[in-house]
Amino acid sequence: MWTIIVILIFSVIAYFITDNLIPKLKDLFINAGLYGVDLCKISKEKIPEAIGVVSGCVFLVTIFLFIPIVFGNNLIDTRLFPHNEFAELLAGLLSICCMLLLGFADDVLDLRWKYKLLLPTVASLPLLVVYYVNFNSTTIIVPVPLRQILGSSVNIGFLYYVYMGMLAVFCTNAINILAGINGLEVGQSVIIAISIIIFDILELGGEQQKAHTFSLHIMIPYLATTLALLKHNWYPSKVFIGDTFCYVSGMTFAVVAILGHFSKTVLLFFIPQILNFIYSTPQLFHIIPCPRHRLPKYCVETDLVEASRTVIKKSDINAISGIILRILSLLHLVNKVEDNQCIYTNNFTLINLFLIKLGPMSEAKLTICLLLFQCICSCLAFLIRYPMATYFYNV
Ligand code: UD1
Ligand code: MG
Repeated sequence: MWTIIVILIFSVIAYFITDNLIPKLKDLFINAGLYGVDLCKISKEKIPEAIGVVSGCVFLVTIFLFIPIVFGNNLIDTRLFPHNEFAELLAGLLSICCMLLLGFADDVLDLRWKYKLLLPTVASLPLLVVYYVNFNSTTIIVPVPLRQILGSSVNIGFLYYVYMGMLAVFCTNAINILAGINGLEVGQSVIIAISIIIFDILELGGEQQKAHTFSLHIMIPYLATTLALLKHNWYPSKVFIGDTFCYVSGMTFAVVAILGHFSKTVLLFFIPQILNFIYSTPQLFHIIPCPRHRLPKYCVETDLVEASRTVIKKSDINAISGIILRILSLLHLVNKVEDNQCIYTNNFTLINLFLIKLGPMSEAKLTICLLLFQCICSCLAFLIRYPMATYFYNV
């Protein structure tokens, strides 16, 4: 328990350091050409981009300084040194470090989408190797209703590693595509982190105590540095976080999910991101045209944001895109108007869907609505994880 108290103290210090550093480093980023313009504001002032690198670095340094404290006792008598646990922590940090570097490269070079998928796969390799060496458990427990057909457990072997690699790719990109209004990326990450911390605390007394302590050692400093970032990224944003932050966050969640053996529970905390991803697939796979930015459209006269639109030429509509549009229309998930030549639909993001259903609103209110939805989904996740898991898994 004392290590948790130490990491709490370290994290409070990390919060204040991040909070202090961000305003001081802002001009450095602008001078280096790392800035963007807020597309939902009248003012076209330069806003520093990729500030997630600051919170990411403080987060990593906090854990580096913490290593001698966690493993301190074993450093005196090295014969008992827990090499496996140490390797786990180092592999986790290496993967997060890789994502920080690659995310920053993305912000500077504006990489293409195929690389955005490739980079997390490569960065998750250290994690998968250490998982192979330390656990190599690729057996999944079958839910009770399916046990008569499949038996009580199934060993899926190599496919389990594919699943873990895909988890890292999903977590990193899912946050990045539920984005574009002030405070949303950081806000959703804060709620996911708090949900994981609550889950860790609930499970601390159980069989997986070590895994959840490991998770807390990572999540607490992550939450502290992210809260400091949120303070500066909240409406009206004084800094943009860049893809660096989305990548670091996604990989941090993937690290605790994989090494803490609770990837299904972490996925439950990603319900809004999963819904947004499914809804986005027609545009992500270019079945429906996908503009560079899908964030909501700002209306100067009303100072409100409304759903942004994409244009589909009727001559470009094929069987698949036609079916998708019909299904989405039937489900009332799309707002479309058409003329002789084109169909104009909203961009397929959860943010735009909220605007279609609730009407135009201020940017800050929209962020709060989406974050409230994230909180509700976390409550739902706990409901699924506890009462319903008892039914499905007899635990
Ligand atoms: C992803 C989304 C894109 C969305 C963008 C916004 C997909 C496939 N891509 O692209 O639709 O528009 O994120 O982050 O879904 N910005 C604001 N206000 C904010 C945050 C960002 O105006 O609160 C603008 C700024 O101009 C900033 C830019 O978005 O410079 C950053 O976009 P970037 O993160 O590079 O976009 P992607 O991650 O590629
Ligand atoms: Mg982005």
